[in-house]
Amino acid sequence: MKQQISLNVNGDTYTLAVEPWKTLNEVLREDLNLTGTKLGCGSGDCGACTVMVDGRSVSSCLTLAVEAAGKEILTVEGLAESGEKLHPVQEAFLEKGAVQCGFCTAGMEMSALFLLNNNPSPTEAEIRRGLSGNLCRCTGYNKIVEGISSAAQKMKKETRPKKPNRPRRR
Ligand code: FES
Ligand code: FES
Repeated sequence: MKQQISLNVNGDTYTLAVEPWKTLNEVLREDLNLTGTKLGCGSGDCGACTVMVDGRSVSSCLTLAVEAAGKEILTVEGLAESGEKLHPVQEAFLEKGAVQCGFCTAGMEMSALFLLNNNPSPTEAEIRRGLSGNLCRCTGYNKIVEGISSAAQKMKKETRPKKPNRPRRR
């Protein structure tokens, strides 16, 4: 039987009925049409599905939607302030050529954000350790590490306002 839950995603509140076995990844992609978050392995090994829940990076393929009810969820769609202004992590990934096919990019960027929120000046080794749960099948790891290093510099220069919380129904 479906359960009614509220999900706060990227500052918007969605009220929807979901099966208790449905993952956060399925609800984001199928019910909310937020397809920036990818589904790779489905078993917690690749990091393509990484999102933030209450400020922690989690595998959305291993998280039930009902577990995320009432928590603050941030997906890649919520990173950019607007269509014209990308998040510093996104800017840095583009500038450093850290995106090839793009399949791992959303998960990489969310893991990068979690790392930089907790360690604003990571060493290369700390960046590589921070990405240890994210796989890139195009194997562009060096560019990704360069991108995160550049994002750290950019983020130090920026203070970002929080988006307002707007109620929505689905
Ligand atoms: S799809 Fe979730 S870790 Fe691979
Ligand atoms: S850019 Fe293709 S999987 Fe990473």
